[in-house]
Amino acid sequence: MPKSVRDILLMKNSKKITVITAYDYTMSQLCDKAGVDMLLVGDSAGMVMLGYDNTIPVTMDQMCLFTEAVARGRQNALVIADMPFMSYQSSKSQAIENAGKLIKSGADAVKLEGGVEIKDTIHAIVEIGIPVMGHIGFQPQTTTLQEGYRIQAKTKDAAVRLIESAKALEEAGVFSIALEMVTKEVSKIISSSIRIPTIGIGSGPDCDGQVLVVHDVLGLYEKIKPKFAKRYLELSLDIVKAVESYKNDVVSGKFPGIEHSFFMDKSELERLKKELV
Ligand code: KIV
Repeated sequence: MPKSVRDILLMKNSKKITVITAYDYTMSQLCDKAGVDMLLVGDSAGMVMLGYDNTIPVTMDQMCLFTEAVARGRQNALVIADMPFMSYQSSKSQAIENAGKLIKSGADAVKLEGGVEIKDTIHAIVEIGIPVMGHIGFQPQTTTLQEGYRIQAKTKDAAVRLIESAKALEEAGVFSIALEMVTKEVSKIISSSIRIPTIGIGSGPDCDGQVLVVHDVLGLYEKIKPKFAKRYLELSLDIVKAVESYKNDVVSGKFPGIEHSFFMDKSELERLKKELV
């Protein structure tokens, strides 16, 4: 049985929550097997899977496809799907319709970027029974448009605004909040002043859980290497080495070998030879 939102809520103050992104069936299966609590079908898929420079071009159709694949691969983890840029900003009905599409694709919950300014939209989605994760601090869909990659809540005023947003989201009914690139001090204050779990990315150790992009964890994405992302492997080097070896084996005739080949029955081969002479 996959974990429920209630299971995640109960982890606050008892056990750290582990979240990792996944975008396809195979990675979903592997990360689920590793025991993560939640799989995030992040719109970072636009960058690491589709090669866009940022998450802005990502569409609902693309997110639904990634979500279907991840949902098929998991057994235990709760699956959250990101609502892409402009899939929820126009109206509450647009937001509800698109949240519903992600749930029909297999997600257990959706994630929206934004603070106090989208609390009514979030409330409308939660009201119809769809669990929502909030996402404040650095918001990749819009912060880059305004100020580029920047640490959030460095000043007193920015910190107060962020704390207010976290409280507004809790009131709107989110079951957890992702805090991206928020100063350690402010993450700690937010985590201790709300009853729902905070999931940090680049926001220090005091959050209730952590989320990372799987391509960063495995060392698969070379274009951006955020300081906050711990790379547990440099898999891209091994992949290039393996594919080079494959290429060299093909060119030299070493691959495929006898062990990779299929054979006719001897008697059928004899009959064929006779027919061909
Ligand atoms: O899309 C994503 O991967 C995310 C994480 C950065 C939290 O939203």
